[in-house]
Amino acid sequence: MKIAVCPGSFDPITVGHLDLVERAAVIFDEVVLCVMVNAEKRPMFSLEERLELARAAVAHLPNARAEACGGLLAAFARDRGACALVKGVRGGADFDWETQMAQINRDLCPTLDTILLPARPEHTHISSTMVREMLRYHQKLDAYIPSGAMSALLRIRQGKV
Ligand code: PNS
Repeated sequence: MKIAVCPGSFDPITVGHLDLVERAAVIFDEVVLCVMVNAEKRPMFSLEERLELARAAVAHLPNARAEACGGLLAAFARDRGACALVKGVRGGADFDWETQMAQINRDLCPTLDTILLPARPEHTHISSTMVREMLRYHQKLDAYIPSGAMSALLRIRQGKV
């Protein structure tokens, strides 16, 4: 059984993230989307809210699920028996950062490799940062948020903006 982890802060999950999980779910037997803490970021949504949105987004995928983790990614992946991390890259800056993270995670867990999947061209401009900005200005989000997560996002955002 080949298991992959798709990690990220998912603040909130976007259609670009979902596309990555869907593609990983074709390649691997099982995919665990892991909603994590990025110590460099102050999230708009709590870990629990981000997990709820991620769970709703991947609910249609029989071999994918979402979990949350406040600890070390390499330890989470090892505990789940994962052989790979899957991350998306939208361009050169993402690639440079993700290759560094891949080396660190491999140092921490030598059996854990990282697979970088290029974002689809129609998703390269989509980021959680951009979605949070759209939320602040009450803009339509249908093109950016997975349809399964939309009703939960609309409910949760009432207290945010
Ligand atoms: O979506 P992001 O913010 O780019 O995801 C980054 C994330 C959450 C995957 C990264 O910050 C992370 O792995 N955090 C968990 C702690 C960890 O394992 N750090 C790397 C080794 S010290």
